[in-house]
Amino acid sequence: MTVEVNINDRRITGKRSPMLYGHFIEHFHRQIYDGIYDPDNPLSDEDGFRTDIIDAMKKIKVPVLRWPGGCFVSSYHWKDAVGTERNPMFDKAWRVEDPNTFGTDEYIKLCRKIGCEPYICTNAGTGTPEEMSDWVEYCNLENEGKYAKWRIANGYKQPHKVKYWSIGNENYGHWEIGAKSADEWGRLVRESAKMILHVDATAQLSAAALADIDWNINLLKNCGQYLDWISIHQYWDMMPEVNHPAAYEECMAFTKNIARSVDDVRGILTAMRLEDKIKIAFDEWNLRSWHHPNVHTIKQGVNKEDYVTPRDKNDDNSIYTMADAVFAACFLNAMNRNCDIVGMANFAPILNTRGCIYSYDKGIVLRSTYHVFDLYVNYLGDTILDLWTEDGMPVMNVNSKSGEETAVDTLDLLATGWSDREGIALVAVNKHACESQSIALNYESEDAEVIVYSITGKSKDSYNDRDQNEVMIEEKKTGLFRSGMDVELAPHSVNVIQIVPVR
Ligand code: AHR
Repeated sequence: MTVEVNINDRRITGKRSPMLYGHFIEHFHRQIYDGIYDPDNPLSDEDGFRTDIIDAMKKIKVPVLRWPGGCFVSSYHWKDAVGTERNPMFDKAWRVEDPNTFGTDEYIKLCRKIGCEPYICTNAGTGTPEEMSDWVEYCNLENEGKYAKWRIANGYKQPHKVKYWSIGNENYGHWEIGAKSADEWGRLVRESAKMILHVDATAQLSAAALADIDWNINLLKNCGQYLDWISIHQYWDMMPEVNHPAAYEECMAFTKNIARSVDDVRGILTAMRLEDKIKIAFDEWNLRSWHHPNVHTIKQGVNKEDYVTPRDKNDDNSIYTMADAVFAACFLNAMNRNCDIVGMANFAPILNTRGCIYSYDKGIVLRSTYHVFDLYVNYLGDTILDLWTEDGMPVMNVNSKSGEETAVDTLDLLATGWSDREGIALVAVNKHACESQSIALNYESEDAEVIVYSITGKSKDSYNDRDQNEVMIEEKKTGLFRSGMDVELAPHSVNVIQIVPVR
C-alpha cells in the first residue's frame, strides 16, 4: 500500500531551534576521564582533549553541551575543581573518586573547541543558593568580587559567559542525593534563582522538573517569574539494575506517545499562562537508560564488582542497533513537531555509556544514533512544514518489553524547509522490522531533483563497532522530481528525502 504524502511548503508550522540537537556529558564512567579528557593519550591535544572525539562532535554541530551531571552534580562542589589546588573528591553519587582535574575551566575550554554553548547544571542536592551564585560570579562577572578575581588569577581574564544554567537535577527522585519535597523545591529554586539573577540578570534559568502536576505547579507558582526553561528527562528502555536491552520490535513499542511528557508539561504551562515565557528543555533523553546497578537503590553494592565493574556493560556496542537510530529519529521528529514549546533537547550522553560516540584508546566508533544526528543537523531544514497523509497512516502491531501487544504507526514523517533557500527535506522513518513501505510525494515543485540519504543497516540488529561499520548514511540520487512519484523506504530505515532545485 502506497501512502499518499502531501506537503505544503507555503504553510510553515514551526521554526526549530538548533538546540534540539543538543547533548549532555556527565562525570560518570568513561564520559569525562578516559573519555573526552585523556591527557596521556597520543590522540589528545595540548589540553588533554581527544581530538578525534572533538572532530566527531564538530561534525554533528553540537549546539549546547550540558555538564557536569546528572546525579553526579547533587553532591559536587565546583570550587574543588578550579585553580592550581585540585583535591580529589569522593563522588557520593557514583561512589568513585573524582580527581577534579577536569573542572569548570576545562569544560569551558572544551566547549570553545567544539564550538558549542556551555550549559551548567548546579548542585541543588547538598549545594546552596550561594554556592550556585558564586559559580555564576566565577564564570560571568568581569572582575568584581573574589570569584571573578579567582578566575582571572587562574588565567582566564575574560568571563566565560555561560548563558544557560539549570538549578538542580532530578531533585524529585528518591535516588538523588539531597532529594527535595515539592514545597522544599519551590523555595530552594526561588532563592537560588534570585541570587543567580542578582549576579547576572541575563542568565537563562531552568529548574529540574518532570511530567508531574503537583511538582510543576508548586515550582511554577513559586518560581515561574524567574524561569526561562523547565527541565524534563526521559529514558524508555529502563536498565539501571539489569542490562537486558529491549529487542527491536519492543523498542518500536516505545515510540507510541513518544511526546507524552511534552504534552503533559505543555498543558501545565498553558494552564498557568506561562507557555510563551517558559520553554521545555528535554535535557536528558535516550531510548536506553544507563546501566549502573546497586547505586540508584537504597541497598548499595559493597564490592566494586557489584556496582562499578558492571558499568562496563554500557560499552557493548552491539546494543546500539537500528532500533536506537529509528527511535532517535522518532523522538527528534516529535521535538521538531513541538518546537513551539520545546527549545532544547540533550542526548544523554554524547560519549560512551549509551552515547552516540564510543571511544577506546586507539579511536572511536560512531554508533547508529550518531548518524541520525548527522542526518538531522546536516541534511534537514530549519523550518517545519505542513504535512498530511491521505487515508491516515499504516499501523503495525508489536509486542512491548512488558509483553503487551501495541499498535504503532509504521511511518514517522516530518517535512522541513530552509528559511534561506529553495527546496524541502522530508524525514521518512520506516519502523517496520522487515517490510518496505512506499510513499507517494505530492508536492508542487519545478525543475527539482530528488536525493535520498538513508540509514538502514543490513538488518534491524545492525550496529557499528571497532571492526565493523554496518550502519552509515548512504546517498542515492533518484533523478528529476515529479509530484506524485513513489519513493521506497527500506525496512528499519531513517531517510531524508531532499527535493531541491536541480544543481
Ligand atoms: O542514569 C544516569 C542518570 O539518569 C543521570 O545521572 C540522571 O540525571 C538520570 O537519572
